[in-house]
Amino acid sequence: MSLPTKIANVDFEHCIFNASGPSCATLEELDIIGKSGAAAIMTKSCTLKPREGNPEPRYTGLPLGSINSMGLPNLGYKKYVEMVPLLKKHGKPVVMSVSGLCLADNIEMLRAINDTDADLVELNLSCPNVVGKPQIGYDFEQTDEVLTKVMKLVRKPLGVKLPPYFDFAHYKQIAELLNKHKVKFVTCINSIGNALYIDPDKEAPVIKPKGGFGGLGGKYVKPTALANVHKFAELLDPSIDIIGVGGINNGTDVFEFILAGAKAVQLGTVFQEEGPETFARIEKEFNELMKKKGYASIEEIRGKLKAL
Ligand code: SIN
Repeated sequence: MSLPTKIANVDFEHCIFNASGPSCATLEELDIIGKSGAAAIMTKSCTLKPREGNPEPRYTGLPLGSINSMGLPNLGYKKYVEMVPLLKKHGKPVVMSVSGLCLADNIEMLRAINDTDADLVELNLSCPNVVGKPQIGYDFEQTDEVLTKVMKLVRKPLGVKLPPYFDFAHYKQIAELLNKHKVKFVTCINSIGNALYIDPDKEAPVIKPKGGFGGLGGKYVKPTALANVHKFAELLDPSIDIIGVGGINNGTDVFEFILAGAKAVQLGTVFQEEGPETFARIEKEFNELMKKKGYASIEEIRGKLKAL
């Protein structure tokens, strides 16, 4: 049994796939995702030119998740554009993640992606790890400007990957913009930016870039991710689909994200730590839980979180 879903009208066999994050930067890594139980293939956020990313160590697994400051290591968008036909052979949706270092870069990349067979585009407005480039999603004027420009030219269903928000006023402001620009989907949350994890034995941070400041992921962030999904489910136009990401480790976590309002979920830290088998394991656990509870479709539970 698979429980299908749709994102921006694109059919997904089930609701679980990879986050633009670990192990999705090379053709070899993307083929592994294609052969795995993931419902779609998401590429690493690309930039105009290839990037080596930040100095190592730049990712560390932690007791309840991970901290990273990868700095967008990727092959440059042209390579991902070339890969699309190869990735499509896996027979599942291909989602291209784009993270230009400026608006002109995003425009150039999105124009090129228009002419590919990619199914969806996720515009990353929330990478916390590029030195000197604040997260666009926290700057509402800049977000408005970016969306005004890109929505005019994009011919693919475009969604945005958002940073976590923590204040009801900020949710309201960003939701108004997303509704105004009619984005097709929202992915929340990116890692909680600029966390600091200290190794008391070494008396030092655990990652090197930015003096040890990096994006926090995994179980630490799940309640924040659920809160973002649920608040956006309340504030966004119902035509905008929500993809949840942050601390999903098992089928019950998936269930909670769907209850909060997500139509699909992405796996980051757990994929990095467990490998590609994680997709089939978590889908099986989710299906078993749904069956046990007597639910036969995602829509039966989506957004149906009960009030106390
Ligand atoms: C990174 O490459 O630094 C992580 C990507 C992101 O957080 O958007």
